[in-house]
Amino acid sequence: MKYISINKLHKINNIKNIKNKIIKIYGWVKTIRYSKINIFFIDLKDGSSIKPIQIILKKKYIKKNKKIYKIKTGWSIKIKGKIKINKNNNKKEIHIIKIKILGKINKQKKYPISPKYHSLEYLRKNLHLRSRTYVIESIIKIRNTLIYYLHKYFQKKNFYLITTPIITSLDTEGSSKMFEIKNKNFFNKKSYLTVSGQLNLETYACSLSKVYNIGPIFRAENSNTNKHLAEFLMLETEIVLAKINKIIKISKNMLSYCIKNIIKKNNEDLEFLFKYTKIKKNDYLFNLINKKFIKIKYNKIIKILKKKEKIFKENIIWGMDISSEIETYLTQKYFKLPIIIINYPKKIKPFYMKLNKDNKTVSCMDIILPNVGEIIGGSERENNIKLLDINMKKKNIKKKKYWWYRDLRKYGTIPHSGFGLGIERLLMYITNIKNIRDVIPFPRYPKYINF
Ligand code: 4AD
Ligand code: MG
Repeated sequence: MKYISINKLHKINNIKNIKNKIIKIYGWVKTIRYSKINIFFIDLKDGSSIKPIQIILKKKYIKKNKKIYKIKTGWSIKIKGKIKINKNNNKKEIHIIKIKILGKINKQKKYPISPKYHSLEYLRKNLHLRSRTYVIESIIKIRNTLIYYLHKYFQKKNFYLITTPIITSLDTEGSSKMFEIKNKNFFNKKSYLTVSGQLNLETYACSLSKVYNIGPIFRAENSNTNKHLAEFLMLETEIVLAKINKIIKISKNMLSYCIKNIIKKNNEDLEFLFKYTKIKKNDYLFNLINKKFIKIKYNKIIKILKKKEKIFKENIIWGMDISSEIETYLTQKYFKLPIIIINYPKKIKPFYMKLNKDNKTVSCMDIILPNVGEIIGGSERENNIKLLDINMKKKNIKKKKYWWYRDLRKYGTIPHSGFGLGIERLLMYITNIKNIRDVIPFPRYPKYINF
């Protein structure tokens, strides 16, 4: 007889057919209770559903198997039992025929994941065990769905997956700090962990037209914030002939496609995550599905901020970057909606962005969400070699090093655009989790690489 998953058990609707059926299941004990009438109740989980199944151990059985008294939270067991329907709540429960302990816990007091509430900070110190909690289980399952549907979205639209390299000799973003690889002799030049796959992606876009990748990205900024990781996952895409409005449209469609599917597939997980908040989960998520994003130029933003200058720590001047404080103000106070800021000053953006006719701004867009900040950054790419070279010179970037990137502009250059989505940032929004360290299985951040 094969083991049946707890999720499959939950999903069986035809109760008449399964009543008294004998099945085998296994899992970890979530809670165990002992009732006065000499019955044990075990809540068992096997990872297939956030909802446990209730196991009933009757008096007769317990008397013959005294070791059952020892079973506690976290133990792994396997069971042969009969499916019954609880008359009070109409839920399925399993009445034990046979139980076997697979793995016990010798020092129960030392087991870090007790059935009581644990804070996310505490769980971070027990990273190897934290997936045994409801909260991490539900986040990681939503993460799984998100990555699956991101792939599906681009595959359905006939984009090609280009797995861009993790090791690189180039700095895509200019301003970002990179992790240097110690083994200098190996490549005979300096090499780093990549901060973006964009430049590599562009080479394939300039022949295959529509490409994307989902891969790990590394940034060595010493940002000890709730929004920064040293290693995170980015979705990047490049599309020929697309202009800024086209990549905005694709971004919005992609977000709404993924979130609709998460609502469908992860309803139980979302229910759990929103249970203790006042937020109405569907209203909140539909904020990203309906098209109510405010699209606004950087120039206009500066004008708005100027009028409220006193509120902010920093002086408001044209040319400044949009700080986290300002992002919060714009999305949570002023507009109270997700916003898309376009046309930033060229000085504060990377060398590859396409210059606008005003000669001061570049054709780019950042999508900024309430609570989370920037989730997507993208732009039209400078496809004019002369303008690209001028920009590189101004930013002190050595032309020679980027010779192959420049070749793309020499050999049949073509207008194209692309963007990058921070997958953990989006997950923070979807799950309503306040710290990015809790939406990735193994977070890496300054002074922390213990697991
Ligand atoms: O805005 P960024 O730096 O853009 C790029 O790297 C472009 N080359 C992407 C492209 O056009 N192909 O990063 C893109 C997104 C940000 O909007 C943010 O959501 C996320 O990546 N991100 C981070 N997420 C977690 N931790 C960090 N340290 C992050 N830095 C950026
Ligand atoms: Mg950015």
